Amino acid sequence: MVRAWYMDDVAGDQRKPHMTDPPQFVSLEQLKDLGVLYFEISSDPAKAEEQVKELRADRGYTYQDMITCSPEKLPNYEQKLKNFFEEHLHTDEEIRYISEGSGYFDVRDGKDKWIRIELVSNDLIILPAGIYHRFTLDEKNYVQAHRFFVGEPVWTPHNRPADDMEARQIYLQSHPVSA
Ligand code: LAC
Ligand code: NI
Repeated sequence: MVRAWYMDDVAGDQRKPHMTDPPQFVSLEQLKDLGVLYFEISSDPAKAEEQVKELRADRGYTYQDMITCSPEKLPNYEQKLKNFFEEHLHTDEEIRYISEGSGYFDVRDGKDKWIRIELVSNDLIILPAGIYHRFTLDEKNYVQAHRFFVGEPVWTPHNRPADDMEARQIYLQSHPVSA
């Protein structure tokens, strides 16, 4: 089950939870207000297949593949993980369905604060185009995720500042951000 919380401002290992004390949890409703959608996929493979099929049809996802992030499986691991953790946006949705392992997606809220979203097996998340975000593995250093896309996939990250980009402007029209 997914959990999300506001991050502390403490420097140090990005793979640690970085919860505040006491923790300030963030609800799925709050994530939805940022345009971030969460789906819990069944742990029953037949049901999961049905759910994914329906989601693909609903949202027009025509492309699907799988990525494994671990020191052994991901070519150029250190550099890629570093890039994933640079704050960035995309011109399209970023969709990840975790099948094994775990990791953290951090997204900026309406006040430009970091929210950390903990994803484990059977969690599916959709980040809207134009939202500033980043990704890190946790201390277990392993995640396997299905990726989806409408048409030919474009994984290009646009590092912040990317405020002039159309995708950012469109995002801001419905999700204003003020520090
Ligand atoms: C990506 C994630 C890691 O862009 O944000 O693939
Ligand atoms: Ni991204």
